[in-house]
Amino acid sequence: MSVNSIPVIAIDGPSASGKGSVAERVAHQLGFHYLDSGALYRIVALAAHNKQIAWSDGATLGTMIPNLHIAFTNGEVLLNGENVSTAIRSPAMSNGASQVAVHPAVRNALLALQHSFRKAPGLVADGRDMASVVFTDAQLKIFLTANVEERANRRYKQLIQQNIDANYDVILQDLQERDARDKTRSSAPLMQTKEAILLDTDNRNIAQAVAFVLKEYQASLQKFNSQQ
Ligand code: C5P
Repeated sequence: MSVNSIPVIAIDGPSASGKGSVAERVAHQLGFHYLDSGALYRIVALAAHNKQIAWSDGATLGTMIPNLHIAFTNGEVLLNGENVSTAIRSPAMSNGASQVAVHPAVRNALLALQHSFRKAPGLVADGRDMASVVFTDAQLKIFLTANVEERANRRYKQLIQQNIDANYDVILQDLQERDARDKTRSSAPLMQTKEAILLDTDNRNIAQAVAFVLKEYQASLQKFNSQQ
């Protein structure tokens, strides 16, 4: 099986839209691999913070990335062997991730790593540019969104559950800033590609969103088979 024939489901959308939970469950149901591309930008922000490299210094960040040892093992995120699963989810690293993500040097340095997740029998990848840049030939492209207040509410509950200090108004403001930065940056901005199917989750829970993606995937397979 050539790499390009391995199916990819690309799920893009703004911060805290719930796309990670949906993508992970879809991957589990299909027995596919899962790529949380946002975690990579968070790792870069954390590594830079540890090494005292400014998040605005794209060139130095780009040269730092090939020296990082990044692994996803048993649901844990490891940076140079250290479990950073909780550290990368802090509000500071959420903000840092969207700052390091504006640099083309950072995005290019993470490209090959993202492609390496495409393994049989398939991949579900979530992020901002899965459909537009990283997996342009994805079999199914979903743009998953929800209004910003709903997303702030979800992120607030998530942080409280993880025993991370949280304030709703601060989260709302942070999400609005990150949305603006993600949508207006010149390199791989957040956008719905023309082939992507819109999945609005304002009035859908995770199970309903998962069912929607699985149904669209089956439909895409039928369409593909009927064209053969
Ligand atoms: O998805 P998550 O909120 O974890 O992503 C953190 C940040 O990483 C986002 O705000 C965005 O700026 C950046 N990101 C990106 N491209 C991706 C995934 C995440 O620019 N494919």
